[in-house]
Amino acid sequence: MRQTAVGLAVIGVLLIAGMLLYIYTGRFNVAATQEHSDLTEWILETTKDASVRYHARDIAAPDLDDSALVEEGAEHFLEDCVLCHGGPGVERSTIGRGLNPPAPDLADEVGEWRPAELFWITRHGLRMTGMPAFGVAEPDAEIWAVTAFLRRLPTLTAEEFQALTAPPPADSLPAAPEPEP
Ligand code: HEC
Repeated sequence: MRQTAVGLAVIGVLLIAGMLLYIYTGRFNVAATQEHSDLTEWILETTKDASVRYHARDIAAPDLDDSALVEEGAEHFLEDCVLCHGGPGVERSTIGRGLNPPAPDLADEVGEWRPAELFWITRHGLRMTGMPAFGVAEPDAEIWAVTAFLRRLPTLTAEEFQALTAPPPADSLPAAPEPEP
């Protein structure tokens, strides 16, 4: 009994010593170009999925079918998301491709998530990935608008995306005030 305890303690100390040696000698490769092992990939993906579903469980989504909301969300998407994720007819930038994990094309991904989960991801970001937390700068109403747009993404063509994000024609803008005489 006592021998087993001593044996286990020795194994524990050796494991910790090995780990510290691995960390301090720089053998772990932190390069973004270094792919995760299959096991690490599985742990990260499974943890992310379960964590997002758990933390978004009590969020109630507002009505997201309003076309004005979708249009507002499209503008935010163009401004804040296209850089990394790309969009209909728009390639991902070098930044989006160079991240590890890379920023995915969201048209392929959003179907896996409920609206509350898309809202949660956009608001809080995803730790240890390049996905930022937009809630630090944007009110919830804007994040819901992006969420409304995300739901439309899988079926949106490049032309529809362009039309949604086009600036309003000049003659629909309010006229400039007359200069003071
Ligand atoms: C700086 C780059 C960057 C920007 C900007 C960015 N994202 Fe991300 N996003 C990422 C990365 C990287 C991931 C991948 C995380 C992963 O695979 O675990 C991600 C993942 C996501 C996911 C989860 C996809 C999935 O199924 O794993 C959603 C949803 C998302 N982003 C939405 C958005 C929205 C909406 C915006 C704009 C408001 C945005 N992102 C802006 C980098 C970015």
